[in-house]
Amino acid sequence: MPGIGVIGCGNIMRNAHIEPTLRDHPDVTLTAYYDVDADAAQSFADDFGGEAVGSEREVCERSDAVYIAIPPNAHGEAEQACLETGTPFFVEKPQALDLGFAQEVAEEVERQRLMTMVGYQWRYTPSASAFREALEGHTPALVNMWWYQGTPRIAFNRYRSKSGGQVVEQVTHIVDTVRYAVGEIAEVFGWARNVVHRDAEDWDNDDVGAAAVLFESGAVGTITNCYALTGGAPGGNGAEVLTPDRRVLWQGKTVTVRTSDGEETTEPFSDPPHRFEDLAFIEALKTGDSSLILSPYTDSIRTLAVTLACARSGESGGPIAI
Ligand SMILES: NC(=O)c1ccc[n+]([C@@H]2O[C@H](COP(=O)([O-])OP(=O)(O)OC[C@H]3O[C@@H](n4cnc5c(N)ncnc54)[C@H](O)[C@@H]3O)[C@@H](O)[C@H]2O)c1
Repeated sequence: MPGIGVIGCGNIMRNAHIEPTLRDHPDVTLTAYYDVDADAAQSFADDFGGEAVGSEREVCERSDAVYIAIPPNAHGEAEQACLETGTPFFVEKPQALDLGFAQEVAEEVERQRLMTMVGYQWRYTPSASAFREALEGHTPALVNMWWYQGTPRIAFNRYRSKSGGQVVEQVTHIVDTVRYAVGEIAEVFGWARNVVHRDAEDWDNDDVGAAAVLFESGAVGTITNCYALTGGAPGGNGAEVLTPDRRVLWQGKTVTVRTSDGEETTEPFSDPPHRFEDLAFIEALKTGDSSLILSPYTDSIRTLAVTLACARSGESGGPIAI
């Protein structure tokens, strides 16, 4: 019967984790909420039961496990409270903007053998399994990853200092799923620039980026990203892997395999994608079976390292080894 506490009572916690899954899960009790905005925490207590409390530590002390869902630049105290109290935690991606901090947390998580999950929900979905299976026994040669859209609506995504930029905050999902299905990325070199938002108010971020990546296997690929479709042109996101005999395209809920015999696309699943990871986390907490966790803190840090390197490499003047 895990008692779940929450640090960061905003959009993703309410709409992706609590309302679709945690609120009605027969084995979950929502215990305590902390947010720097006390009204946000109180609104969760009013709507879902449990209590609004005055600190991260109080959330931990009242809970068997904690969800951390705060802006990318706000990490620190929440993880500290979990580590000091030995509380298992789920943390939304990106797990930090400071790789050194994330490495310290990872070391302590490892030392305590603490159960953790980072919010890379796609790994838990049928489409990520299909992506991985479609590549088994084939040799990935070229791997392209992309996310294209217009000006982001979420306020912190307008600032590189708050979000880490589009690759760190958003394309991270694509990079992580590709790591899961294809393998590890060894080196990155890329550029990012602000092209369309030069005169935009309330904006300090790049709106396009392109990086070349080298996989440990020797495969090469690209990560391209765009916030510049401000005129309403259609966007999209996904990854495509080219092997000698097939092209495998993953786009969220579906996978398309193209061969010389034609093309086949999987049926899209109907559950919200975050539900798969939440159910896995609860089951892991209940049973103690950490093999159910496909995105532990200590592994996800590699996704963070790749995405941070994309943001830095253009400025450092050379490829960055991960
Ligand atoms: N996995 C996904 O698909 C997905 C989707 C959207 C957002 N996210 C991630 O989830 C995280 C939260 O995003 P969101 O859209 O819910 O943001 P949000 O702004 O809606 O909510 C964040 C909440 O955290 C609170 N907060 C800020 N600093 C805090 C601190 N130091 N301690 C406690 N509370 C604090 C804010 O007051 C706010 O209520 C981000 O890292 C974002 O990248 C993940």
